[in-house]
Amino acid sequence: MDKIRIVGGKKLRGRVEISGAKNAALPAMAATLLTPETVLLENIPYVRDILTTRTLLESIGVNAEVPGNGTGSFKAADVGALEAPYELVKTMRASILVLGPMLARFKKARVSLPGGCAIGSRPINLHLQGLEKMGAKCDVAHGYVEASTAGLHGAYIQFETVTVTGTENLMMAAVLANGETVLDNAACEPEVENLADMLRAMGAKIEGAGTRTIRIRGVKKLKGCRHRIIPDRIEAGTFAIAAAITRGDVEVADCNPKHLSSVLSQLSLVGVEISMGETGFHVRGHGGISSKNMTTYPYPAFPTDMQAQYMALMTQGDGTAIITETIFENRFMHALELIRMGADIKVEGRQATVRGGCPLMGANVQASDLRASASLILAGLAAKGETIIDRVYHLDRGYARIEEKMAGLGAEIERIS
Ligand code: EPZ
Repeated sequence: MDKIRIVGGKKLRGRVEISGAKNAALPAMAATLLTPETVLLENIPYVRDILTTRTLLESIGVNAEVPGNGTGSFKAADVGALEAPYELVKTMRASILVLGPMLARFKKARVSLPGGCAIGSRPINLHLQGLEKMGAKCDVAHGYVEASTAGLHGAYIQFETVTVTGTENLMMAAVLANGETVLDNAACEPEVENLADMLRAMGAKIEGAGTRTIRIRGVKKLKGCRHRIIPDRIEAGTFAIAAAITRGDVEVADCNPKHLSSVLSQLSLVGVEISMGETGFHVRGHGGISSKNMTTYPYPAFPTDMQAQYMALMTQGDGTAIITETIFENRFMHALELIRMGADIKVEGRQATVRGGCPLMGANVQASDLRASASLILAGLAAKGETIIDRVYHLDRGYARIEEKMAGLGAEIERIS
């Protein structure tokens, strides 16, 4: 199993190009099931979750090509088994995103329940409740959702909790439903807006994506399209913190700074110099880091997917920072590994108190989930000596060639196979 080896203490310098967003590419790939025509997706990141989704679509009968250079081609003309098997879903819970499109176009679907996850229980009740309001029958049996419908119809759906993939799944179900669907208290993440742009390019009628209320008027059928996946705001945020924690000087390019304005304003608050451009931003981490509290909330607030990385930075703060995680009930696993590197962190329920000013020391640590592994890389860059990170398969799920990109900025980092 691969590991990552880092020798800390190097200031990062130079320019890094951001890849396409995993969390935009996954729903876009699921949406290719909505038409028998060819769909071309540009700027797809070459990461493991994308390859898992390709395998899933192929098992359903989609002709799916995902080359390393970023433009994928998908054609769902000869769809056979309308099933997402446990073997694939257990490795990537976002597989649930094929449920809406399959029900909308083929009127039935069998999808394995995702099950638990390191960061929380993550139920899909809101996805199923929404589909049932649209006229589907969703039975859960033997670990699978057995869903069928005589034909989906429009409905008014108010989410009790903001859910990103829930919003995406129901939006994809509604584009071929009979009548109008309103999604209220919807997620307005940039990935949701990017999916709506793709669906509109396929002929869908959608208004309000990017706001808390989305209106979808169903159409009879959808056509193929060429669509560009937005840059990965979480990867961009991760590199911003890498520059800050190493007191470096980095240009983060090929991204949309507006998509992570909450992260960049928090970094300015803690003393990091940020200069914004149209398609990138510059980070200068020359001064000290001030300890500042932070609470995660749905977009446009500070994203939970940047919480672990921010915690790593706060271990180097000049005081105490309280980090509150409101989205997932168990997303502080990385704290235990940071403590092994010498950090002073106390976790109580959904709050972590981080006392800064403790120099980090290199150590053997292990990743528990995708973003936790990123925070351990950041800590390793700032630590004295050598850090070995185990279980980096978590990292490969959502970061494309991160150690190569970090090495390109002067980090002493390598993958040990
Ligand atoms: C998406 O997950 C992202 N994944 C996650 O990124 C991200 O952490 C999360 O949104 C929050 O921003 C993808 O887009 C593929 P939610 P999702 O439904 O949609 C509860 C990463 O690191 N909930 O918005 O699964 C849920 O338990 C990953 O790239 C229900 O109770 O998250 C959570 O507490 C990790 N019932 C909250 O809502 C439901 O039916 C928000 O979850 C659905 C959700």
